[in-house]
Amino acid sequence: MKINKIVCIGAGYVGGPTMAVIADRCPHVDVTVIDMNEVRIAAWNSSSLPVYEPGLAEVVQRARGRNLKFLNHIDGVQALKEADAIFISVNTPTKTHGPGAGKASDLSYVESCARFIAQHVSGQKIVIEKSTMPVRTAELIKEILTHNNSQAKFDILSNPEFLAEGTAIRDLEKPERVLIGGENSEAVQALVDIYAQWVDPRLIITTGLWSAELSKLAANAFLAQRVSSINSMSAVCEKTGANIDEVAKVIGTDSRVGPKFLKASVGFGGSCFKKDVLSLIYICESYALPEVAHYWQQVIEINEWQKKRFAQKIIESVPPHGTVAILGLAFKKETNDFRESASIDIVQHLLQAGLKVISYDPKVNFTEFAKGLQKAENLKSASSIAVAINGVHAVAILTEWPEFASINWQEFAPQLKNCNLIYDGRNIVPVDAPLPPKLNFQRIGVSG
Ligand code: UDX
Ligand code: UDX
Repeated sequence: MKINKIVCIGAGYVGGPTMAVIADRCPHVDVTVIDMNEVRIAAWNSSSLPVYEPGLAEVVQRARGRNLKFLNHIDGVQALKEADAIFISVNTPTKTHGPGAGKASDLSYVESCARFIAQHVSGQKIVIEKSTMPVRTAELIKEILTHNNSQAKFDILSNPEFLAEGTAIRDLEKPERVLIGGENSEAVQALVDIYAQWVDPRLIITTGLWSAELSKLAANAFLAQRVSSINSMSAVCEKTGANIDEVAKVIGTDSRVGPKFLKASVGFGGSCFKKDVLSLIYICESYALPEVAHYWQQVIEINEWQKKRFAQKIIESVPPHGTVAILGLAFKKETNDFRESASIDIVQHLLQAGLKVISYDPKVNFTEFAKGLQKAENLKSASSIAVAINGVHAVAILTEWPEFASINWQEFAPQLKNCNLIYDGRNIVPVDAPLPPKLNFQRIGVSG
C-alpha cells in the first residue's frame, strides 16, 4: 500500500496547517483540502489566509498550486475518488442537545463525512481520523462506510493531531511524536511512510485504534489538568502571600514534573481542552466509571471558577457602570482564534454586572467575538492599546501577547488617571516595570 494522493475534509485550524506541511514535505504526494465553507476555501486560495499561524503563509506559498489544492466539497469529489488516503478533520463540538448534551462530542459532522466518502469512492481507501474523537469512533465510521458502500474496502486509522495553535507549524515540522493507531499493519505503514519523509521514524508511535483515540483525549486532559492545578494554587497563593511564579518554578525544577505548562492564567481556553475533558467525562459515565468522571469534572470546575474569580475582582474594584479595558481576546498569543477563550466569559461577566468594556486584540476579529454575547451594546473595540485604556477604571490583560508585556505604563499615566486596578491575568508584565503611582497592580497568584 502506498499513499500518492491525499484528501483532507475540513480546512480548519488543524486540517489546513497539517495538510500544508504534508504537501510541503512530500512534494511527490498530491494533497487536496476540501471544505463545505466556500468563504474559507476562497481565503485559503488568497493571500489572506483564514488562520493566523506564524510560518503558515510561507508553507502554503511554497506548496499551493504545486501539490496542494483547496477546493469546495463539490469540486473536491474527483480528488476524493482518486485519493488513496482521506483525512477527516472536521469539528467535533460538544453536543448541545440530545443524549449526552453538554458533554458528549457531536459526531454529526464526522458521520456526514463518512456518508460523503461512502457515496463517492470505490476500490481501496485508507480513512484517517485526524479530528479528536471519542474512543471507539472508528467503529462507527467503519459501520457507516461499509453500510453505505459495500464495494469499496476501507481501513480506518486514528492519527490525532498534537499541534498547539500559535506554534502549529513548528509542532508539525518538528513533532515530539506522531501517533498512528490502526488494525491493518499495511495501512499503518503507508501512513508511517508519509510522516517518515520528514519525521525521525523513532518518533512515530504505532498503537491499536482504541489506544490512539483515547491517548489524544488523555493527553489533552492531562494538559488541562496541569493548568487547573496551577490555577488552583494561584488562589492559595493570593490568600497566603506565596507567589505562584516562584511556586511554579520550584515545582517545575523536579524533573518528574518538568517546567512547561505551569503558567498561572485567567483559565485555559481553545477549541480542545474543555471539549475533550467533557468528552472524557461522558465516556467515563457511559462506561459506569462515575469516580473517574467526577475526578476530571474538577478540572473544568476549577477553570470556570478561575474565570469567575478574576471577573469578580475587577467588578469589585470599579464604580457601578464603570469602564474596563480588556487587553487580549485570543485564547493564547500568536493566534486569531478565540474559541472558548477565557476572555469570552470574563467579558460576559463584566457586561452582566452593568459595566462597559473596551477591548483590544491585535489579531482577533472583534465583530465575530462580540456575536453571541449578551449586553454587547456595552462592548466596544479599540484600534490600539492607547485608545483602549484611555479613561477606563480598570485594565485587565487576558492574553499574553508580547506587546502587552512591554507597555510603558508610566507613559500612560494621564490616560490612567481614573484607573483603580491593572490586573495582569497572565503575569507577563515584568515585576520591575515602572508603574504610575497609587495604581493598584495585581498579578494572578500574587497577593496584594
Ligand atoms: C477540529 C476539531 O474541532 C478538533 O477536535 C480536532 O482535533 C481537529 O479538527 P479545527 O480544525 O480547529 O478542529 O476545527 P475548525 O477550524 O472548526 O475546522 C473544521 C472545518 O471543517 C470547518 O472549516 C468546516 O467548514 C469544515 N467542515 C465541517 C466540512 O468541510 N464538512 C463538514 O461536514 C463539517
Ligand atoms: C492543545 C494541546 O496543547 C495540543 O497538543 C492539542 O493538539 C490541542 O490542544 P491549544 O489548545 O492549541 O493546544 O493550545 P495550548 O498551548 O495547549 O493552550 C491551551 C490553553 O491553556 C490556552 O488558553 C493557554 O493560554 C492555557 N495555558 C497553557 C495556561 O493557562 N497555562 C499554561 O501553562 C499553558
